[in-house]
Amino acid sequence: MRLQMMRTRKMSKKTAWWKNSVVYQIYPKSFYDSDGDGFGDLNGIRAKLSYLKKLGIDVIWLNPIYESPQVDNGYDISNYRKIEPELGTMEEFELLLKEAHEKGMRIILDLVVNHTSDKHPWFEEAKKGKENPYHDYYIWKDTIPNNWGSSFGGSTWEYVDETAQYYLHLFAKEQPDLNWENPKVRAEVYEILRFWLEKGIDGFRMDVITLISKDPAYPDGPVIQNKEYGSYYAGCASGPRVHEYLQEMNREVLSKYDIMTVGEAPHTSADEAVPYTAADRHELNMVFHFDHMHLDYDENGKYAKNRVKLTDLKKVMTRWQDAMRECNGWNSLYWSNHDQARAVSRFGNESTPYRVKSAKMLGTILHMMQGTPYIYEGEELGMTNAHFESIEEYKDVEALDIFRDFTERKGFSEKDTLELLSLKSRDNARTPMQWDDTANAGFTEGTPWIGVNKNYKEINAEQCLADPDSIFYYYQELIRLRHEMPIITDGVYELLDQENESVYAYLRKGEKETLLVVGNFTDEPINYHVDENVQAAKSRLLISNYNAAETLERDFALEPYGACVYLLETEIE
Ligand code: GLC
Repeated sequence: MRLQMMRTRKMSKKTAWWKNSVVYQIYPKSFYDSDGDGFGDLNGIRAKLSYLKKLGIDVIWLNPIYESPQVDNGYDISNYRKIEPELGTMEEFELLLKEAHEKGMRIILDLVVNHTSDKHPWFEEAKKGKENPYHDYYIWKDTIPNNWGSSFGGSTWEYVDETAQYYLHLFAKEQPDLNWENPKVRAEVYEILRFWLEKGIDGFRMDVITLISKDPAYPDGPVIQNKEYGSYYAGCASGPRVHEYLQEMNREVLSKYDIMTVGEAPHTSADEAVPYTAADRHELNMVFHFDHMHLDYDENGKYAKNRVKLTDLKKVMTRWQDAMRECNGWNSLYWSNHDQARAVSRFGNESTPYRVKSAKMLGTILHMMQGTPYIYEGEELGMTNAHFESIEEYKDVEALDIFRDFTERKGFSEKDTLELLSLKSRDNARTPMQWDDTANAGFTEGTPWIGVNKNYKEINAEQCLADPDSIFYYYQELIRLRHEMPIITDGVYELLDQENESVYAYLRKGEKETLLVVGNFTDEPINYHVDENVQAAKSRLLISNYNAAETLERDFALEPYGACVYLLETEIE
């Protein structure tokens, strides 16, 4: 049956659809290549819609699909109204959207409006001279005002001869920042939003949206994490006018459509996220925070060997669960995305005896929380980090910059730097989706733009679909439970056993029922004792990645990376 896909212009009074939806993130370049050029494409995604439907997801988030010189894999946009030719055409996009809708799945797009490509016509005009009408679409200074370092190396300020000025770029120099102070820029952005919403898309993931308003004082940033330059975050993260801009965007455009919005929010604490997501503020539905992603950082930042300490992870996740509930906001739940290492490699255990079990355990802990879960392509197969062995195999601007910086400036050996990249590089998540055990994992008949993970013969979709005990079917079950049990959407989260370094246990409390969620984050068996305060008249096992007892026992043996969820009836009628 066709899911209710009517594009009502008013938000319904009942639970918003995105609150019990599960999102599947697709990195189009690496998903499925339908024409043999080595790049994934829109027709490739369309060919795999039945696969996604089988998994049971509700929403597909596509990383940028617009025309782009691909300096940062599509996050440098040169035309917001055109599809990147490598990915397909507008007709193909419209067909993809139509077929996804027919199958009861929605599509959200990536909105990248903190910056454009330097090849965008606005910037090509802007750099012609100070009098050009587009000059003020970007941020220019006659002299370098501060010590900010860009995310991909070097200063954030780049000199242009024609204007004899410097322009700001928080990311690569090919990604000049837009000047949101200029009302014309905001009006252009709202027109872009309308263009896509009128095509019938179902919302946006907004790239680094918390950085769009800059502190007009352009203060120096602290030089931290053994870096060459100062951090720009103090002058950009949740800047002075960001909430005014988002409220304006919401008023002018977003509020007129039944859509979902999720803002990427680097350097945003749970308290700072409240004004973005609190329902009565009318800004965004939810944000992606990075607090759990930062737990394994060291003095070199992201590229560290540390493992996340479970007690720290619990503290962070609990803080967000509580804060979003208190403000009537909403959480987005994720272990991985196109900028992060693979979830099972980073938070679980990718070695053979534990990979499948730890991937299921991670899925359990995340999917039973309050919020909207995001599955990153391949996570449902337990895809692992790439483990590239030479710098030539890396494609990402960030990886190449880190390699240069660590080997040339910080004095790391090439071997040590490659080891850090194999743990954390963004390319770990960008290797092609592993469909089967044929050449190139069935991703392309050509030469893939980035190497396929060597383990594709063991880890691939065909294998998962043939095995009833696979991670794929476990995720299918997690998604089904969310759709069928309102307590997973609404229940109040309560952490148990805060100081336990090995087990993550929490409750989701409803009026008459409670969920108990338990996951072992270690490769050791654990005799687990359920807190005395957890009482149940009746209990029933909902899902588990091992042979857990059908009803809850106060003391039970939790296998290595074992996870289980029990439904407890607290009152019997
Ligand atoms: C976001 C994107 C990342 C990109 C950056 C600049 O963090 O997720 O992939 O490089 O913004 O647009």
